[in-house]
Amino acid sequence: MSTVRDRVDRRLVQFLDVHPAPVADPEVVAAHQVLREFILGDGKRIRPLLCYWGWVGAGGADCAELISAAASLELCHAGLLIHDDIMDASEVRRGRPTVHRALAGMHAGPAANAFGRAAAILMGVLALGWSDELFATSGVEPHRLRRGHELFTAMRTEVIAGQYLDVMSQTGADTTVDRAYTVIRYKTAKYTVERPLQIGGALAGGDEELLEAYSSFGVPLGEAFQLRDDILGMFGDPEVTGKSALDDLREGKQTVLIAYATRYGSRAETEHLRAWLGDPKLTETVADELRQIVVDTGALAQVEQMIDERAGTALSALADARITAEAAAALTELADRIAHRTR
Ligand code: IPE
Ligand code: IPE
Ligand code: MG
Ligand code: MG
Repeated sequence: MSTVRDRVDRRLVQFLDVHPAPVADPEVVAAHQVLREFILGDGKRIRPLLCYWGWVGAGGADCAELISAAASLELCHAGLLIHDDIMDASEVRRGRPTVHRALAGMHAGPAANAFGRAAAILMGVLALGWSDELFATSGVEPHRLRRGHELFTAMRTEVIAGQYLDVMSQTGADTTVDRAYTVIRYKTAKYTVERPLQIGGALAGGDEELLEAYSSFGVPLGEAFQLRDDILGMFGDPEVTGKSALDDLREGKQTVLIAYATRYGSRAETEHLRAWLGDPKLTETVADELRQIVVDTGALAQVEQMIDERAGTALSALADARITAEAAAALTELADRIAHRTR
């Protein structure tokens, strides 16, 4: 039996095969190829998996319609990541050059970087549009599809608000722990866990009580997901995460981790953090000093504890949820992977 992931990927291949570049221009064809490789690249496919188990949890039978709807979330994710990497000036993702870097690399000369970013904005918009198309044509019964689509729309609006708050936090002074939590709730917790589960549940005809239960499980688990992402973004092994461990520091990301370090740090420690956060010239040596501050202030231990607490809250909500035993088992395992992952 092939895994959900394999089936989602096959559905994506099928979709991409019938969506070739609409003009024969070799440049456009090459850009489509970059997008295709990114979509099919080495991501974790967490949102399609959660959508799948959200459906099964509601008592829905496994079917092709479900796989199409789940795969549509991955197209949306691809578009958001392409844009995120432009906004965060990230050069590497999923172990390869980011889409704007890959597109820039197809051209020589001083305009290459601006071209790469502009072209990647277009490819990201295309992926987002494709996501809508695949969702709408998934074949799910129209009544259920409509409720699923409302949740899909809410998810998109929320993630954009979260991303907005995220980039905005880079423009100002130190953040507070509270503000940092608001950012991760919208940019990740709802987007990555709560809504994908609810979309799957709604598509299978789940009632509002089920959607509520998915929210009680999904929001704390989604926060744990992003807290882990913040730790990996600073302490992770780039060979494993496929992402740089300098980007967040160079971009001056006001993560929960940094917010705790600023709250607990001595004056010298917070001044050192402030002096370097957001400096694109920050070196690996300075990064090590900042990592040490995050360890010494107890911020890292604090965030680890927050992850455990949230994973625990999520699991007890799951135990109370009225979902199928098969889905409960799969979601329990997934929750552990999400909270304790290394990539
Ligand atoms: C990255 O998401 C963006 C966040 C919301 C933290 P993932 O960690 O799910 O990325 P992929 O899809 O596995 O590459
Ligand atoms: C990305 O957030 C969130 C999205 C909604 C795409 P980050 O910027 O924190 O994630 P990474 O670390 O680049 O994957
Ligand atoms: Mg980013
Ligand atoms: Mg970002």
